[in-house]
Order: sequence, then structure tokens, then C-alpha cells
Amino acid sequence: MDWEHNVSLQPYNSLGLPARARFFHQATKEVELLDDLRKVIKDKLELLVIGGGSNLVLARDIDGLALKVDLKGIEIVEENEKSATLRVAAGEPWPELVKHCLKRGFFGLENLSDIPGTAGAAPIQNIGAYGAELSQRLLSVSVIEQTTGSRQEIPAADCRFSYRQSRFKGLWRDRYLITAITLKLTKQPQLCLDHAGIQEAMPTHPGPEDVAREVCRLRRLKLPDPKLLGNAGSFFTNPVIEARQAKDMLAEHANLRMYDLGDGRVKLAAGWLVEQCGLKGIRRGSVGVHKEQALVLVHHGGGTGRQLLDLAEEIRTTVQARFGVKLEIEPRVVA
Ligand code: EPU
Repeated sequence: MDWEHNVSLQPYNSLGLPARARFFHQATKEVELLDDLRKVIKDKLELLVIGGGSNLVLARDIDGLALKVDLKGIEIVEENEKSATLRVAAGEPWPELVKHCLKRGFFGLENLSDIPGTAGAAPIQNIGAYGAELSQRLLSVSVIEQTTGSRQEIPAADCRFSYRQSRFKGLWRDRYLITAITLKLTKQPQLCLDHAGIQEAMPTHPGPEDVAREVCRLRRLKLPDPKLLGNAGSFFTNPVIEARQAKDMLAEHANLRMYDLGDGRVKLAAGWLVEQCGLKGIRRGSVGVHKEQALVLVHHGGGTGRQLLDLAEEIRTTVQARFGVKLEIEPRVVA
């Protein structure tokens, strides 16, 4: 087995944080993953599975194996005049997958254009943007159980998907290694124009390409390109609170930004809460809050994961003191 030793993980996380792994392997075949898992278990090593590294905060070194899952391949498993079912290997980059599907006339992913990361990481946080979520298109997730090496196909219905949540983040954390996802896409466009920003920008007879183009444009306006400025997208989730609590908050903060979830709960715009605390664009040494989007923490270079987590804690404490709401960190933290 060709494991590299003492490898910098800086190129493998979009925040560009410094951390080293005792061992590193970029696996391109399932048999390699199985070999890796066997050795990890035999030698009782820590295992960190890395996809695109775009949702990862590294605040320490890995005293074991950092395993980059680089399985490739997009396979049409079923196609008829209405739909196409695709099995996508975990290492396929998500933005290219969305473009590929659009080009082939397979629709349903256009609102999720340009989300950094790999297909295999997408179910973990149930990626979502501009009114759509992966779970609406996902049929199943192919996995290898880490302790037994057994292959399983988990139906989407068993994954408990909700807003930025799944069992892969909760009960099943570190239990499975995702090797592929299976998506069902439509051949007749069914546009999702729920997001006001998207709707406004559409031509008279919009198509999926118009939605994709507008999503990419909006993302470019608000979200920094990780190649130019280290970031992991939204650093906090939008808090979901009881409508009653929101009503009390409204009495004090008349212009509170929120969305009714229709079930007695509302979702608050965390970016707004952070901005109201005067934290948008602040800098603490090498880390800071993005100047266009207060929900995005950035690494200007030369900083550490610890510094970023300290900044996150400062933001959480400030927001809680002002609004009584506790923000939850969205990316995976290794500290
Ligand atoms: N807002 C502010 N100040 C800010 C940022 C936002 O007041 O600095 C307000 C905006 O004015 C708007 C509201 O907050 O009224 C929502 O802002 P935005 O549309 O930018 O979206 P978001 O809720 O901050 C979420 C996702 C993004 C996704 C966008 C678009 C989460 C945690 N984030 O952000 O996802 O791209 O909606 O749908 O749900 C990600 O998960 O990494 C991510 C980028």
C-alpha cells in the first residue's frame, strides 16, 4: 500500500488551514479503500476521510490516515423519456457534475450549481442553495461500513435528511465511507424559482440554464472563491427557532430577517444576525468575516484552525448576548 508519510493537508482543505497527516492516501479504486480500511483497523489508526475539503476546519494534525476519496465515474443506470437515474462516484467534483447533467438534458440540480466539493460529501450535510436541496433528487447512497468493510446501499429515506442535516452527520458519523450517490433527474425541466433573487432575474420563458447561470452569478457576488481566499462557505447554519420566540425578538428588532417554515417554527438569517452585531468584514489577525457575506469566515493566509475557531466563538458569544440565539457551526471541525 502506497501511503505517503507526514503530508501537509493545506492543499486539501478549501480554508487553506495548516495541518499534517501522519499518513496520506488518495484512493482512486474501491479495492484501495478496502485495503486502507483494513490497515486502519489493524493498526488502530485515526481515520480522516476527505472529499473536496470544502466543508472542513482542521485545527490539529491527524495522527493516522487522511484518506482522500478520489473515485471517479458517472454512469446512467436507467433512462426513459421522463427521467434519468445516475450513479455518481464519490470523488466526482459537484460543480462539474451539475454542468454535465445540464448538457445531457438531465434536470433538477441547476439550483445547486457551483457548490464546491465532491458528490460523495454532498449527502453528509444535504447540500442546498436557492430553494433546492440534494435530498429532493437523491435515491440512495452507496457506502462501505468502516469497521466491517461491507458494502451497502442506503435508501435516501433512511438518511433523515433535513436542512443541512443527515444521519451521516449525526448517528452515523464516522460509521460509513461514502463511495457513490444515485440521483434521479428529470428530462422535462421543473424549475424551482422559490428564491426571490432567482425569480426576479428570469427571462419571460426561463429554462434550467437560465437558473444555473443566475445561481452562479449570485454565488460569485456573495461568496469568495476558495482559490483566492480560504473559506468553507457558510460557517454557521441559519438557526431554526419557535415562532413564539421570533415574535418576541421582532418586538425588539423590527427588521429581523426570517422565513416562516409553516410548522410553528421560523428560520432566522444568521448572516443578518452577525452583521447586526457589527462583525461583518472584521479581521482578527489572519482570519476574519467576509466583507460581502457575514456568514462566511475567511482565512487570509498564515493563520490556524484554532484562530478561526476562536473567531467563531467570539461571533457565537456576541450573537447570543445580543439576540439570545446560539449559532451552530456548519462545517466539520477536527479539533
Ligand atoms: N444577510 C445579511 N447580511 C449578510 C448576509 C446575509 O443581512 O452579511 C441577509 C440577507 O440580506 C438575506 C438573508 O440574510 O436577507 C439570507 O442571505 P443569503 O441569501 O446570502 O443566504 P444565507 O441564508 O446567508 C444560505 C445558505 C448558502 C446558500 C444561500 C443561497 C446556509 C447556512 N447557507 O445562505 O449555502 O448559498 O442560502 O440559497 O443555509 C453553504 O451552505 O455553504 C452556503 C453557501
